[in-house]
Amino acid sequence: MIRGRQAEYVAVQRLLTRARGGDSGALVVRGEAGIGKTELLRHARATASGFRVVNTAGVESEIGFAFAGLHQLCAPLMDRLAALPEPQQAALTVAFGQRPGEAPDPFLVGVATLGLLAEAAEDEPLLCLVDDAHWLDLVSAQVFAFVARRVQAERLALVFVLRDQVPAFEAAKVFAGLTELRLDGLTDADARALLDSAVHAPLDDRVRERILAEARGNPLALLELSRHAAPARLAGGFGMPDARSVPGRIEESFQRRAAGLPASAQTMMLIAAADPVGDAALLWRAAEHLGIDADAIAPAEAAGLLEVGATVRFSHPLVRSAVYRAAEPAERRRAHGALAEATDERADPDRRAWHRARAALGTDETVALELERSAGRAGARGGLGAAAAFLERAAALTPDPADRAYRALSAAQAKHEAGASDAAFELLTVAVTGPLDGLHRARAERLRAQIEFARTRSSDVPGMLLDAAKTLAPLDPAQSRDTYLQALEAAIHAGPLGHGRGVVEVAEAARDAPPPAGPPSPADLLLDGLVTRFTRGYEASVPGLRRALQAYRDHLGTDDASRRGLWAACRAAYMLWDDETLYGLTTRFIRLARDAGALSTLATALNFHSTVLVQIGDLAQAAGLVADVAAISQSTGAPPLPHDIVLRAYVGRRAEAVELFDVMVQEATRRGEGTVVTLANSSMSVLYNGLSDYRAALQAASVTCDADELTHSSAALPELVEAAVRAGEPSRAAAALERLSSCARASCTPLALGVEARSRALTTTGSAAEDLYREAIDHLSRCRYGTFLGRAHLLYGEWLRREGRRQDAREQLRTAYEMLSGMGVEAFAGRAARELRAAGEQPRKRVAQPADALTPQELRIARLVAAGATSREVAAQLFLSPRTIDAHLRNIFGKLGIASRRELRSVRLS
Ligand SMILES: Nc1ncnc2c1ncn2[C@@H]1O[C@H](COP(=O)(O)OP(=O)(O)O)[C@@H](O)[C@H]1O
Ligand SMILES: [Mg+2]
Repeated sequence: MIRGRQAEYVAVQRLLTRARGGDSGALVVRGEAGIGKTELLRHARATASGFRVVNTAGVESEIGFAFAGLHQLCAPLMDRLAALPEPQQAALTVAFGQRPGEAPDPFLVGVATLGLLAEAAEDEPLLCLVDDAHWLDLVSAQVFAFVARRVQAERLALVFVLRDQVPAFEAAKVFAGLTELRLDGLTDADARALLDSAVHAPLDDRVRERILAEARGNPLALLELSRHAAPARLAGGFGMPDARSVPGRIEESFQRRAAGLPASAQTMMLIAAADPVGDAALLWRAAEHLGIDADAIAPAEAAGLLEVGATVRFSHPLVRSAVYRAAEPAERRRAHGALAEATDERADPDRRAWHRARAALGTDETVALELERSAGRAGARGGLGAAAAFLERAAALTPDPADRAYRALSAAQAKHEAGASDAAFELLTVAVTGPLDGLHRARAERLRAQIEFARTRSSDVPGMLLDAAKTLAPLDPAQSRDTYLQALEAAIHAGPLGHGRGVVEVAEAARDAPPPAGPPSPADLLLDGLVTRFTRGYEASVPGLRRALQAYRDHLGTDDASRRGLWAACRAAYMLWDDETLYGLTTRFIRLARDAGALSTLATALNFHSTVLVQIGDLAQAAGLVADVAAISQSTGAPPLPHDIVLRAYVGRRAEAVELFDVMVQEATRRGEGTVVTLANSSMSVLYNGLSDYRAALQAASVTCDADELTHSSAALPELVEAAVRAGEPSRAAAALERLSSCARASCTPLALGVEARSRALTTTGSAAEDLYREAIDHLSRCRYGTFLGRAHLLYGEWLRREGRRQDAREQLRTAYEMLSGMGVEAFAGRAARELRAAGEQPRKRVAQPADALTPQELRIARLVAAGATSREVAAQLFLSPRTIDAHLRNIFGKLGIASRRELRSVRLS
């Protein structure tokens, strides 16, 4: 009988009730071993009337087989597969090893899983129970956490169980931030009641009190310790209060119980403990190899330690770990050896390799090779975490010290790419203690810097990469150049906050990079262009950077060469005011990151694209991307990316933007991310110019422009000119204009010429000013950046009004107002409205658009649907389920007063 736990049951019931009503949710149940987590799941299953229930559990074993946990949960639902879009079907079937294919994007597997669960929940609400999630393979855990964060309207309830204090399990971290339910010990009264119901003989008071004190309300401890309730034994076994954790004591008690069984039963238990699958047939076969009869397991069953049906189930995971840990190493090897023999090499080569690895004494190159092949297979299915685990073990088994170090290095690389930076770091330490040759040592150095960047974005990274690049130069010129480029990227990122080597210093060092062996790749050209930028200045670098960008445009592959340096290429296009190229590059950046399944790169790419969209004036779309970025950052546990400051600055609500600015600058300063500080200040200069707070705008723009940052220092010059003119600082305006003109003439794109003319007009008097405004508008009309054009109309209108040409002013201001307010660029629209009023015209209250009532997310969905997308297609694009899209659509229809998708097409949604 279950004691206590009323509050917890209520929490579970609430989750179920909500899900039944189409309000999905997820819950993470945490607590120590034996505290009652699985019991709570059992209760959830028993009381989930009307729900279909699917479940899976992580199993303690030293490796995660890629997608194993996910597969187990999804297997009964796979008949729904056909309902998913083709790429999602492919992702799942490849992940589950049902068909060969390119390694799927974990993100796509996440969307597909969400789709599959949602599809199943169409018939009846679905409850997903994931026990011992800390033992899941990493990528399954990532997918589950992703799904848990994206569920909304699909009648889904998910419960994950995490055990406290399981050290070093990457999987446990990915659930951070979900709603948690902590299980603590039972109350004293409940503990007593449980104890009394568990022991049938009268209990000595001293014994009872001791058990209660030692069990600390842990139900399993109460049940297990009371088995040894005789006072004499207690004194022997549990007489040392607080020496170990409660689970430690329970485990020890299980060990003693197992030790009392016949040797053959113990061996059977050990085999069962060594096999994470729990396949009974496998157990029989393995036992047979050791000459043990199937009946030998009976005493263990009789002792209540495990149950054998089609599968083998331990009465508690602590029994399994107790048995496994108590065994001598030689016995464990024997058990794994028997399991390897019993495992079909063709059907399950990876598990066989794994058992062989555990069976090997010392080192064994054959087994190491087998594991390396398994790693290759796991990697091909997108299970980088599993691949890394195989490689890690392969390294340990490798006899030759150099080979061992290489394998450890590969394992570290794989861990790093799977997002497990801490584990990667440890493996790297193993690798560098081996006899690596110069080339591999340099690669190890580089990997160390990359891991460091992923972990902390630390400003020491540029120096580390530079050292690696130098070492690589004579050994592998191509990799050396690549590393120099990475060093430059990292130095640009650290900017003025880098307390290692600054960007100029890195650029100077990069001048010594070996020349490219063949015709230069886009990244080669980019490296040279960036070096010129920081050693000889903006203007000198323009021809080289232009050539580099042209090469990126021409090189449309999906290979590594077209991916490399893409981030810096985007930055360079930004710097050159080449909005057309920038748009193309960020779009491609997103696609490549998606195809490669590189989540952190995808976040960076989406982020970048969102800033482009903001300047284009598509704030709704940008807001959607920003939300996607947040979702990805959560699922990878990376530090958040900062670009929604651009969005907020353009929206123009002071308090919101300032609040974000403060947090961002503080965080970025702490981490040494100078570029973020520059970006934040440049955004603030836009915000304050919009709000007509020119002093503040001047201050923020100056910080940015003085930084000599790759992108923002030149991009903020027009803000500086506008702020200085309006703040009555003509000499500062003139100086900034001179700088801007020189850069713009060098770049010579329509956008550059447009902002130059606009800024020059601001500092010009008389009819010459008018010509410049018209020229600016002319140039900017040919650019993507609608916000820039709107602001040109605004400035022109303001000038006309001051010239007393009210009629002409009204026309410009009206245009500015309509453009800017239509985009949701509120501060500048407000400025235009004020000017328009001063020019004698009441700004036509923007005819309230029906679409105004929609949230950004709804607007995004409405637009996609209006363009003809099905709910399924929209769902795939926004990483949601079709049912959630339908729920949004119902809201959208309600708000717009329409009833069909067709009607949506006639609503203005821009
Ligand atoms: N509230 C409770 N009242 C009575 N027995 C419980 C309670 N919670 C757990 N148990 C029992 O304690 C044992 C351990 O619980 P379990 O749920 O397996 O722990 P966990 O999953 O947290 O390791 C099981 O035998 C279970 O039936
Ligand atoms: Mg449990």
